[in-house]
Amino acid sequence: MKDTISALTSKKLWLAPLAGITDKAFRTICKQCGADVVVSEMVSADGYIYNISRSMKYVDFTEFQRPFGIQIFGYKPSIMAKAVEMILEKRPDLIDINMGCPVRKVIKRGAGSALMKTPELAADIICEVRKVLDGTNIPLSAKIRSGWDDSSMNAVDFGKKMEDTGIDMICIHPRTRSQMFSGRSDWTVIKKLKEKLSIPVIGNGDIRNAQDAQKMFKETGCDSVMIGRGIIGNPWLFAEIKEIISNRNNFSIDNSEKLKKIKDHFLLAIKNKGEDNAIKEMRTHFSYYTKGFQGGAKVRELINSSFNKNEILKAIEQLYQGKRKNEQN
Ligand SMILES: Cc1cc2nc3c(=O)[nH]c(=O)nc-3n(C[C@H](O)[C@H](O)[C@H](O)COP(=O)(O)O)c2cc1C
Repeated sequence: MKDTISALTSKKLWLAPLAGITDKAFRTICKQCGADVVVSEMVSADGYIYNISRSMKYVDFTEFQRPFGIQIFGYKPSIMAKAVEMILEKRPDLIDINMGCPVRKVIKRGAGSALMKTPELAADIICEVRKVLDGTNIPLSAKIRSGWDDSSMNAVDFGKKMEDTGIDMICIHPRTRSQMFSGRSDWTVIKKLKEKLSIPVIGNGDIRNAQDAQKMFKETGCDSVMIGRGIIGNPWLFAEIKEIISNRNNFSIDNSEKLKKIKDHFLLAIKNKGEDNAIKEMRTHFSYYTKGFQGGAKVRELINSSFNKNEILKAIEQLYQGKRKNEQN
């Protein structure tokens, strides 16, 4: 198990779980661009048990995506354990428990970041899921925030309790639940967690460029970094980070390579979801891919109303042959 954990956490680049964004197609693109570990969008434990066919799309992955983690959320230890038992059929490389989601429909039942207010319940969940994983060589992790709100910043004590209960690694997004995604993440909390815990710590929050990733490693001592929003529209950031953290600084990518990746992304999404669904779901990605180009707004307008694959591809192609807004004539 020690080697398995080290293979996932020694100076690795993780793709953050982003519901509605990091689906199977995008994970493949991120892997191609250099992500080391990718994680599923969060999957409801209850949903998995009671309506497995609806949850299947979240846990589906390809061999190329390994190591692949499946993240579940829920609030009832027995249900969480049962869901993990069923999920093991998929042979994931990691099980992650969501203890950070701030969304109302998740926290109202005590799941996600609400678990940081109920450390005993969180520990019971870890305990029950651990039993299911014993003997499997599949590590167990938890993804937490810095606490519920400013007056209850318990990440370090909470993380220690989870470690003592049996997780193998921990990921922290150092904002409180009250902050949701506003303000800045407080990387000093990552550092404190790393200092207090013996298990590997994966730092997350506000990595927007390669320098940020390097800075997070340096300032916090974290074992690995996880990148979420910074990757949307910019999956090649993984390749750039790899270059910078190995002191090579040789990264470059031109518009034609980017365009090829975007097309691959779109075609993979179509293969996985069918044309109409893929077109709808790719709109978020396209809006990021087309940012900063002269004429981008007009192309986004077309993409947001078109259901014609070729029309969309042609518009993006033309955009990428044009100029960025800050480029000189
Ligand atoms: C659209 C969106 C969806 C997210 N979905 C999940 C999720 O399913 N599970 C999870 O643990 N965190 C989720 N997060 C939080 C991210 O994984 C990450 O912790 C957060 O965005 C901070 O990292 P970043 O600054 O690199 O984006 C989501 C965030 C966003 C913006």
